[in-house]
Amino acid sequence: MASIDFNDLSPRERYKLIVGSVVPRPIAFVTSLGVNGVVNAAPFSFFNAVCNDPPALAVGVNQSAEGMLKDTAKNIIDVEEYVINMVSEEIAEKMNVCETEFAPSIDELAEAGLTKAHSAQIAPPRIAESPISFECRLLNTVQLAPGKYVFIGIVVHMHIRDDIYDAERNYVMAEKSGLVARMHGPGGYARTTDLFDMPRLSKEEKARRFGEKVFDRGE
Ligand SMILES: Cc1cc2nc3c(=O)[nH]c(=O)nc-3n(C[C@H](O)[C@H](O)[C@H](O)COP(=O)(O)O)c2cc1C
Repeated sequence: MASIDFNDLSPRERYKLIVGSVVPRPIAFVTSLGVNGVVNAAPFSFFNAVCNDPPALAVGVNQSAEGMLKDTAKNIIDVEEYVINMVSEEIAEKMNVCETEFAPSIDELAEAGLTKAHSAQIAPPRIAESPISFECRLLNTVQLAPGKYVFIGIVVHMHIRDDIYDAERNYVMAEKSGLVARMHGPGGYARTTDLFDMPRLSKEEKARRFGEKVFDRGE
């Protein structure tokens, strides 16, 4: 088994090991608004749900290659509101276009052929073609290094396409949503269709298999 001291690695080497190991990573396709009113859109795979109550999503935004603050980071810090749009295979190529570091005055969604739709509770728009969008208000900013941030946002509103949502059961048909995720390498992606089921062990099953070793909380 290789044993690797991260202190001996360059940032690029650490990046390669992390993105090859933490897989698949869901993609936050973030729409934000500049103080100049220009809408910005960019994908981020250092992303995940970190709590349900409060409903918190975390996104990691690095500096640009030139060491500049990315537009998404600037906008989130300035406006404190943004939308996290989930990425389905249908819009994956358009998401990939938005990775381009367009000049701040350019409407990236228009360049990618995506459509803006009004959000319900916040100013930045969502992406109409995204199957699921979360309107977020910034809760907390963790600065990891100069220009590098983790933004923790609270979901205040959700939009979900009718064909993947069973309103009666408050159930997201994740198996039908066609969401994609980032894997390793410059262009590696995964579909969310290769599924298997593994229900949690019941209390009885745990007691039968592990007996006294199971901690009894007295519930
Ligand atoms: C699938 C995908 C995932 C990405 N994930 C990240 C990420 O987690 N963090 C990051 O800083 N950049 C990430 N990028 C690069 C940004 O999208 C890119 O730097 C973008 O131009 C930033 O745009 P902005 O300056 O408009 O915010 C990713 C790109 C792609 C295509």
